[in-house]
Amino acid sequence: MNMTRNPSWERKDLLGLKELSAEEITLILSTAESFKEVIGRPIKKVPALRGKTIVNLFYEPSTRTRISFEIAAKRLSADVINIATETSSVRKGETLIDTGRNIEALKVDMIVMRHSYSGAAVMLARHVGASVVNAGDGWHEHPTQALLDIFTLKEKLGHIEGIRVAIVGDIAHSRVARSNIWGLTKLGARVTVCAPPMLIPPCIGEMGVSVTHDIQEALAEADAVNVLRMQFERDSGDAFPQQLEYFKNFGITEERLKKAKKNIIVMHPGPINRGIEMSSEVADGANSVILEQVTNGIAVRMAVLFLVAQANENRKTRRARSAKTEVHVPPDGSSASGPSVGVSESQSVRDYAKRVSGLTGEPVSGQTS
Ligand code: CP
Repeated sequence: MNMTRNPSWERKDLLGLKELSAEEITLILSTAESFKEVIGRPIKKVPALRGKTIVNLFYEPSTRTRISFEIAAKRLSADVINIATETSSVRKGETLIDTGRNIEALKVDMIVMRHSYSGAAVMLARHVGASVVNAGDGWHEHPTQALLDIFTLKEKLGHIEGIRVAIVGDIAHSRVARSNIWGLTKLGARVTVCAPPMLIPPCIGEMGVSVTHDIQEALAEADAVNVLRMQFERDSGDAFPQQLEYFKNFGITEERLKKAKKNIIVMHPGPINRGIEMSSEVADGANSVILEQVTNGIAVRMAVLFLVAQANENRKTRRARSAKTEVHVPPDGSSASGPSVGVSESQSVRDYAKRVSGLTGEPVSGQTS
């Protein structure tokens, strides 16, 4: 992996891991390390996003992701609004784009969105100037879940390059699987997916992973197993109607773990269907890091919100500076004044970035070209 370039975050949105470079993913992870230290303090709050407003727009149920984004935003001192679509004008037929534009008209800086349609976050991002962070869209991507999974693996194993990760379960309907595969393979991990054939998409090999339908083979060399939920709301049940049969053939049990590496890390994005994807003994056992994943989600989401906000501030500053440097030279050539440096900017993001110097590698004082 070439890490010689000074990493920086320039994107308006975080929509998926497919389009990110290894450097961008590494930057989010290292920024999250700094924020993990912050959330371990007695006073867990920093002023980084003071004055910013973030809307959590969730068209699908969520416990972990929505609460985690809300906590992350509040730890960064942003103002947070949660919109439950059941009680919003979405119920009256308002379109996603109209909803997004109206939220933006309320001077919101960022929209964190979960939606059941693949591509919904990409579409919203194209229609609003506010930043969009994808909190899971259909079967497509769940980038912050994969980032927190990778962060947890790095914390446990010290590195990602060369590790072996088995992803077991409903690969076909899983945005978590897709984001994990993109992220892990970009960072040099070796990924094997394991499920019954009807729960594995035919082209999965093109994503650079190995495929097996034998759970013990998947676990044999794995440093970690990430166990996915059977998504009954997305037809997993039709593809594999016999839940007990699934558990018998693919469920993660203590017996199966005994034949794996002793310290194999057991992960699950949640919510768990106990007794279908894994036994309760495994979910609550010594190898499980499931609740640590949830905690790490706060630091990772703080990092994402922070980097996206900072990139937007840098963009605004560049635009303002370039507008002010358009020097008008009078016809007689006299007294062409230079640009004013009275650039309006939100100081919170910049001040905080300066204080945690080296956090982003971004020229925080705004001297970008
Ligand atoms: N992992 C995850 O996305 O959980 P929620 O659906 O509870 O947000």
